[in-house]
Amino acid sequence: MSGTTTRERIAQCCKRLRLRKLTDNLALVDESDPEQYVLRLLEMEVAHRDRVRVDRAIKTAGFYALKSLEDFRFDEVTLPAALTPEALASLQFIADRENLILYGNVGTGKTHLATALGIEACKAGRRVAFYRTAALVNTLIRLNEGGELDAFLKRIEKLDLLICDEWGYVPVDRDGAQLLFQVVSACYEKRSLILTTNLEFSKWATIFVDETMTTAIIDRLVHHSHLLIFDGESHRVKHSLMRH
Ligand SMILES: Nc1ncnc2c1ncn2[C@@H]1O[C@H](COP(=O)(O)OP(=O)(O)OP(=O)(O)O)[C@@H](O)[C@H]1O
Ligand SMILES: [Mg+2]
Repeated sequence: MSGTTTRERIAQCCKRLRLRKLTDNLALVDESDPEQYVLRLLEMEVAHRDRVRVDRAIKTAGFYALKSLEDFRFDEVTLPAALTPEALASLQFIADRENLILYGNVGTGKTHLATALGIEACKAGRRVAFYRTAALVNTLIRLNEGGELDAFLKRIEKLDLLICDEWGYVPVDRDGAQLLFQVVSACYEKRSLILTTNLEFSKWATIFVDETMTTAIIDRLVHHSHLLIFDGESHRVKHSLMRH
């Protein structure tokens, strides 16, 4: 290794040990005590890894837009008595494998809250997937036709939280409903589901065709569920340029 500087040799070791940020940070840490110096470098590496892990989890989850809990106003949402905004933010419902049903009119913040909770879950190291329900059904049908449904269901089984946005916005045929039922069953009492919907339970049969299956789906979803009612005015309308 003649001609190699100490800094270069450290960089080579870091590369082999996959300490990606450590080489960059060597010159940034101003610390005379050797132990403190090493500790600071390692802490910076750990923080970097955490950021990468969270970014990857958020990307993999498939959110359509990024939304935060800090930006969400709870004043027009009716929470069940057992639930406060703080309890939601603590993600206890995921630890307890409970479901959230976010029900209300268009533009009232259902997708925003579902996304923000999903992102908090990613930050907490939970595995999350976000789907628009119509897209999920199309994926399920395609995978089923290609004989790849089992592999997909196994992936669902590894999740902590599955978010089905726009539940019931688009009618689902019998095959689609059956496949969706399999997904709901895979989640039942094992992982949390968040559904956003503007369809009251009594109308679900009109969307899922089959009355028996609809009842079975509702039964599984409602058990261990919190119903959050969004009864405000549409934010899209409130803030639309056309209104000014
Ligand atoms: N309570 C709220 N606090 C902050 N922003 C909000 C709130 N409600 C809605 N918004 C904002 O208004 C817009 C529409 O909200 P969102 O898409 O979540 O509505 P939605 O209930 O999912 O509607 P839809 O049923 O049509 O899907 C978004 O940009 C969202 O960030
Ligand atoms: Mg929405």
